[in-house]
Amino acid sequence: MKKVSVSSLLAQKQKGKKITALTAYDASFAKLFDEAGIDVLLVGDSLGMVLQGEDSTLPVTIEQMAYHTKCATKGVQNAFVMADMPFMSYATPAQAYENAALLMAAGAQMVKLEGGEWLLDTIEGLVQRSVPVCGHLGLTPQAVNVIGGFKVQGREEAKAQKLVDDAIALEKAGVQLLVLECVPTSLGKKVTEQLSIPVIGIGAGAHTDGQILVMHDMFGISANYMPKFSKNYLTDSGDIRNAVKQYKEDVISGVFPSSEHSFE
Ligand code: KIV
Repeated sequence: MKKVSVSSLLAQKQKGKKITALTAYDASFAKLFDEAGIDVLLVGDSLGMVLQGEDSTLPVTIEQMAYHTKCATKGVQNAFVMADMPFMSYATPAQAYENAALLMAAGAQMVKLEGGEWLLDTIEGLVQRSVPVCGHLGLTPQAVNVIGGFKVQGREEAKAQKLVDDAIALEKAGVQLLVLECVPTSLGKKVTEQLSIPVIGIGAGAHTDGQILVMHDMFGISANYMPKFSKNYLTDSGDIRNAVKQYKEDVISGVFPSSEHSFE
């Protein structure tokens, strides 16, 4: 297997070969996912919820993200590893540079930031300083208190258009990947078609260039609840390695996500 990079991910989009992605927070699972041929591993700030038992991602700190990034990257040979910048760690461009440096030094190959237009200067600055950036639009969990819950985004025409405009602006500012969370399938398709960079969906329907799931959701072991867009792959396969293999095959063949795991 060859090392995954921003250019190989772009080539996958161009060839229509789906990108497979999972979250990972430690060396053992990162190694298992890497060996299974998962393309992208995200050290997500979802660790606040699935590892720490918090109600949201807001309490997660940059030190915790750097620690888990260091742990996860130890297990990886080929997968592309990106790490989340946690809540308020990129409130100003200067803060973003300093904190992104901690994640890159811990082994991340890209950092992920949640938000649209307000982030353009920060993204341009990071890219100029050689920090690859992934955008995150749609349901942005760090904004859960502004949104009023973990809800599907972009159902109204004006909000859908704003999301498309933000996605185009992020690409122009230099993001090389976009995570699109919890939007109707039609909007997932539109954003994916409008952008040249790969779009990785989670609850964004089957037309995005790839799919990502929180690993605990994919194994059906999340403490609190299972999002509609996720699927428990462990029940049928009965084994962690088989579950990951099946998830990967289903994403590549387009079996996952079905309409049952998508929004209209
Ligand atoms: O933190 C995370 O796990 C994420 C995924 C939901 C994409 O951002």
